[in-house]
Order: sequence, then C-alpha cells, then structure tokens
Amino acid sequence: MEEMVKTCPQHTCSWLKNRFTLYKHEEVWNHQEFLEGKLLAQQSFKAHPSEVFLCSFPKSGTTWLKALAFAIITREKFDQSTSPLLTTLPHDCIPFLEKDLEQIEENHKNSHFPPVSTHLHYNSLPQSIVASNCKIVYIHRNMKDVIVSYYHFVREIVKLPMGDAPFEEAFDEFCQGVSSCGPYWDHILGYWKASLERPEMFLFLKYEDMKTDPISNVKRLAEFIGYPFTINEEKAGVIEHITKLCSFESLSNLEVNKSGMHRAEETNAIENRLYFRNAKDGDWKNYFSNEMIEKIDKLIDEKMGATDLVL
Ligand code: A3P
Repeated sequence: MEEMVKTCPQHTCSWLKNRFTLYKHEEVWNHQEFLEGKLLAQQSFKAHPSEVFLCSFPKSGTTWLKALAFAIITREKFDQSTSPLLTTLPHDCIPFLEKDLEQIEENHKNSHFPPVSTHLHYNSLPQSIVASNCKIVYIHRNMKDVIVSYYHFVREIVKLPMGDAPFEEAFDEFCQGVSSCGPYWDHILGYWKASLERPEMFLFLKYEDMKTDPISNVKRLAEFIGYPFTINEEKAGVIEHITKLCSFESLSNLEVNKSGMHRAEETNAIENRLYFRNAKDGDWKNYFSNEMIEKIDKLIDEKMGATDLVL
C-alpha cells in the first residue's frame, strides 16, 4: 500500500516548511495515512445496511458530530455523569473508516453496527456503502472558517508558530484545492449531488445552524440515525442534556481533551486539544484581507453557486 501511495503525484506544503506532504489520488489530495486507509477500505470493506456513515470534510465539525451521535445512541446506557465522553476523545468513541478498519470488522463479527465516520469523498466511498443503501449524515461548514481551522490544525501538528507559517500561502493553496481531502468544494458537491438522487438516505447538517439551533438539529440527527427521542425523554430534558454534554464549552474543558493524546501509540499521534480551538463562527474575519474575501467569494460562487449549501 505504501509503495502504491508513493507513485501518486505529491505536493509538499512550503508554507509548512515542507513538513507536510499530500498525495493525489482520484483527484483528491490526501495525507499518506488517510490514503492508505482509503485504499484498504475500498479493497475490503463490506458495509452493513444498518450502518450509518458520518461524513465530513476535515475541520467542518466532525468531532462534534461524533460526540452527538455517540451520546444519542448510548443514552440509555449512560447518563451525563457516566458518559465515556467525559473521559474519551469523541474520535475514540466512533470508529474512523480510514484508520479503524480492523475494529469495524470486529464489530461486524459481533453483529455490532455503530456509526462509522469518514472524510472520504462520496465517489471514493467503498462501493458496498452505496450498494447497501446506508444512511449518510453529512456535516458541512462555511469554507472561510474551515480554512482558518485547517490552517491552525496542520500548523500545530507540524509544530510551527504562526509567524513561521504564512496564512496567505495556506489560503492560496486551499483555494487551489490542495489540502487534506481537498478540494473542499468537490467534497461537498459529491455528497450534495448524490443526495439529489436519493434524498431519503441523506441528512445534511450545517455547522452554523447547529450552533444557532442545537436542539432541533440534535432531534433531526437522532431521528435520522434511528434513535428518536420519546415524548417522555423530551419532557425530561434529555435533548438539552446531550446538547450540553457535547457542547464545545463542556468538551473542550474536560481534562482528557485538554491534555490527552489521540492515537498515542502512533508516530503521528495528535494532541486532543487540537480538535478544540475556539469554535467561533466568523473567525475568518480576523485573518482575511479584502483581496482574499473577493477571491474566495468568487470561488464559492463559481464552484458552489448552484447549491443552497454554503453561505
Ligand atoms: P475551530 O478551529 O474553528 O475552532 P473537526 O472536528 O471536523 O476537526 O472540526 C474542528 C472544528 O470544530 C474546530 O473549529 C473545533 O474547535 C470545532 N469544534 C470541536 N468540537 C466542537 C463542539 N463540540 N462544538 C462546536 N464546535 C466544535
């Protein structure tokens, strides 16, 4: 697999002082590990029809969606004081297709089909996911905030201070489609187009809407993934409890998410805190020049003007 990856076109990010390399496969830029995982999943993964996939472009709210889905499906087993989310990074509660294939296959052997998350583009999903008519939840976030979030995430991963990682270059590269799982717009468009053909199999959640109205979005999510809240649960405030447990304020203040490591045993282990930066809508305003705003608005219009998905 490693050999195959090395034959793909490569791009080393100069704004990250050449510490980060991406590989192009099926018109998508990937980090080496993700690409290896994608190829393995495409080769061998067999989806179960009851499996739900939580799909996202990186930095669009994946961690939040995973926390919510986990809290929803385990709410009878745990309450707010016993939830594993209090001591476990949400990424370690929901398996990731590109990295956790063995664990997912083990779950299958035990007839256990919890949600699975993925950053794969729709057209790159293992065929059995589409053939089995699996439900897909897609979370998306406005491109400007995704760029800023991505900039800080990868910059921190390669341990570069802001002064050594020029934002303008990161911005230009992202707008050329070169970022982990980029191009951003192809990711969204793939899922959006597929949803037009089979709307009942898709739930689109918009990060910004989830922030302004978490309760009804959590309700929609629970219904869609087959765990609707009962009237009694609603009266007892269960939706509010889950929303609070999974809020940025709660999760980012937990010790595990402040000082723990994700996949600590791996060479590419990531500090959990990097998944929780500030979760502010419109943070891009602190980074974009007028010229950048003009460029990106044009790009968004050109690439996604035909959809109603992105502001
Ligand atoms: P910022 O970098 O703008 O703060 P992903 O989970 O897809 O990697 O996305 C990470 C982004 O989601 C980060 O955005 C992070 O702060 C934000 N985030 C993490 N947990 C969140 C939560 N519980 N609620 C809202 N946003 C959250």
